[in-house]
Amino acid sequence: MEARTHLQPLILGVETSCDETAAAVVRGGRDVLSNVVASQHDLHEEFAGVVPEIASRAHLERILPVIRAAMREAGLQYNDLGAIAIGHRPGLIGSLLVGVSAAKALAWSLGKPLIGVDHIVAHLFACELSPPPFEGGGTGVGETSVVDGRVHPHPVPPPPRGGGDSGAAASNITFPALGLVVSGGHTSLLLLRDALDIELIGRTIDDAAGEAFDKAATILELGYPGGPAVDRLSRDGNHRAHDFPIAQLGSDSLDFSFSGLKTALLYAVKGVPQGRGGNAIFARDASMLSDQQKADFAASFQRAVVRAIVRRVERALERFPQATCLVIGGGVSANSRLRADLSALSTKRGIELRLPPPAYCIDNAAMIAGYAARKFERAAFDDLTLAAATSASI
Ligand code: KG4
Ligand code: ZN
Repeated sequence: MEARTHLQPLILGVETSCDETAAAVVRGGRDVLSNVVASQHDLHEEFAGVVPEIASRAHLERILPVIRAAMREAGLQYNDLGAIAIGHRPGLIGSLLVGVSAAKALAWSLGKPLIGVDHIVAHLFACELSPPPFEGGGTGVGETSVVDGRVHPHPVPPPPRGGGDSGAAASNITFPALGLVVSGGHTSLLLLRDALDIELIGRTIDDAAGEAFDKAATILELGYPGGPAVDRLSRDGNHRAHDFPIAQLGSDSLDFSFSGLKTALLYAVKGVPQGRGGNAIFARDASMLSDQQKADFAASFQRAVVRAIVRRVERALERFPQATCLVIGGGVSANSRLRADLSALSTKRGIELRLPPPAYCIDNAAMIAGYAARKFERAAFDDLTLAAATSASI
């Protein structure tokens, strides 16, 4: 394994961009000493999506207990830290502001460097984190709930079966690399010339891949967040039962589109509606489906999303033959079929594949602290004017 640097900074990472309040301590961009994630899924479930105002209030309640838990788990004092890193963009502005304010206050009061990290870029560097100590995707700390201001860890559920190299040892990205971020808010292809020189080469023109999975789960009445539920159910389904469309977007496009696919699933499950928008009336709904029919829809939908992604990745690899490493990140990179199909693609093309362990696919702060080490090496620090921003930096 390549020795990147003699610097082994201890970095506290903080992440509050959406509906997870997270803090982690990582040494040298690799060793995860703690990884606390307080999920808000229970608060948003009844709305089938994240409610921004509820999210920011929950971050406010949880941020300090979560940071304290991360420091305690790591067995460190605040003065041991080399820097404080914060995911400051993109995301929900009210949520981001909670984390950015906390990180600035910590950096200022401790006299430590502050490092602002783009959440999308951090997802790509999650593959460089050492895998959690036990298979199942947990970190020994794992996903956490916060009740009455106290943090209660509980085990992370096991990853889906057949999910590619879920427990593979972490290796550094080799540059130039092609990056794919597939999450609930973003679907982007990136060219990484270097850790700090990253160019956006393709993105979704409508829904993100994770959003498509979440909407599919709503149509199939599987609950929120939908990606893991669709992934699980797909195992029992026939992926060729339905032939869903894949958007072409021109022969040289590296962009993605998932909204047509979502509508195709909606009409296949519920029938073509009478009327439009809020007045649309459907003939059927998912409650009329058998378990097998639901599984067939889930598997066929998942196959279409994954095929759309893999085709674009293949096209990007043809366009940028200098890329010898393929790096994946974001919540949807936990998807078992996507992992398996991208593993097959990388073997076919003879390029290296970097997949994060499942525990680091979904939003977490270890990836923020991990990527911050890359910035620390170059003294790419921020000052207290660092702003939260809803858009990505690339
Ligand atoms: O990266 P992430 O935690 O949050 C954002 O930055 O958006 O991604 C969350 C998304 C959700 O849409 C969730 O349904 C999806 O990732 N997801 C999955 C799987 N696990 C999480 N999608 C498909 N298959 C999965 N196994
Ligand atoms: Zn994310």
